[in-house]
Amino acid sequence: MAKFRKIGILTSGGDAPGMNAAIRAITRKALAEGIEVVGINEGYSGLINGNLRPLNSRSVSNIITTGGTILYSSRCPEFKTPEGMAKAIKTCEENQIDAIIALGGDGTFRGATDLTNHGIPSIGIPCTIDNDITATEYTIGFDTAMNTVLDMVGALRETCESHARCNIIEVMGRGCGMIALYAGISSGAVVIAIPEVPFDEDYAIERFRHAREIGKRGMIGVFAEGMSLNLDHKYSEEFVKKLEESTGIETKFARLGHIVRGGSPALRDRLTATQMGANAVSCLLEGKSNVVMCVQQGRITSVDINYALMLDKMYKGKLQDGDLDNFSPDAIAEMKSACAYRQAKMERLYRMSFEIGV
Ligand code: ADP
Ligand code: F6P
Repeated sequence: MAKFRKIGILTSGGDAPGMNAAIRAITRKALAEGIEVVGINEGYSGLINGNLRPLNSRSVSNIITTGGTILYSSRCPEFKTPEGMAKAIKTCEENQIDAIIALGGDGTFRGATDLTNHGIPSIGIPCTIDNDITATEYTIGFDTAMNTVLDMVGALRETCESHARCNIIEVMGRGCGMIALYAGISSGAVVIAIPEVPFDEDYAIERFRHAREIGKRGMIGVFAEGMSLNLDHKYSEEFVKKLEESTGIETKFARLGHIVRGGSPALRDRLTATQMGANAVSCLLEGKSNVVMCVQQGRITSVDINYALMLDKMYKGKLQDGDLDNFSPDAIAEMKSACAYRQAKMERLYRMSFEIGV
């Protein structure tokens, strides 16, 4: 069994409901194993600046119910520089931090793997409302965000029904359409638009027109923010104008934005965060590092971070020449099959949503 005197926990990138539940589980499990715990405030920037706080059993009381992160988060470009990394390692050495558990998304895991390569064993825990980390079926925060989206879309649907209006609702997810797809299906949207599947704009407009013709009063469309190519290009808002002009249906627009990133974590997020947090400490004790905790076929497991990051790049079409050089043919075949499976699932659900949406 590997020996650790003290471990650090940090939360980085976009926050997600359930991060606190993970912080609590890591802290309590580590303390039970006789390991000291230190919280690193504001992600990697806290590691660079030595912004630390000791965590004990009481400092994580009553946080399983809260959204956000008690350790705060940040995006820290300096951490990607050799100078930033040198300062981070110095902080670890000066404070006897033997290992780090980093909660966040793929950027955070890149940071964790850099730390491991610099002699600080690190483990990642996937926390993002987007559910966009290919190696895991589930990321902490998704379920809570989905429930908030469903509440809000439901409320908008009611007012649309009263006034015989349409509402196009844009939801977060960065380049991933999972939130939009699941929310659209689960709230009975007439049209869903996600970046993973080609969007037939004329057909979508025709569906709204047809739905109205056959008597549908209130109608909603759920669009992923990833339909917009950049910050200046607001595809969902453009679509609202086109829809009104082509059909005469009065159409409102709503962007749910960051409101769905807060709130008390739902059951699945509390449970997954607790299991992943405790398992991450067990992994360290077993001598495993440079892994990310994942859900695969419903089970919590650990996956090599380099593999997880490359799989993600493959799925997102971002592979560069030479990226796969260090992977065996079997590993590459496995990655391709995981990508195909995920894409097929999205396409299947998308098709189904169109069969039952009107
Ligand atoms: P997320 O973890 O949600 O994907 P970001 O992409 O913003 O969010 O990454 C969070 C932080 O992780 C960054 O601010 C940076 O400090 C660190 N990070 C991101 N990419 C890298 C990288 N390539 N190498 C080292 N650290 C990185
Ligand atoms: O990754 C989580 C997320 O909320 C995305 O859905 C969204 O695109 C992004 O973060 C927003 O980032 P920020 O909080 O920096 O505006």
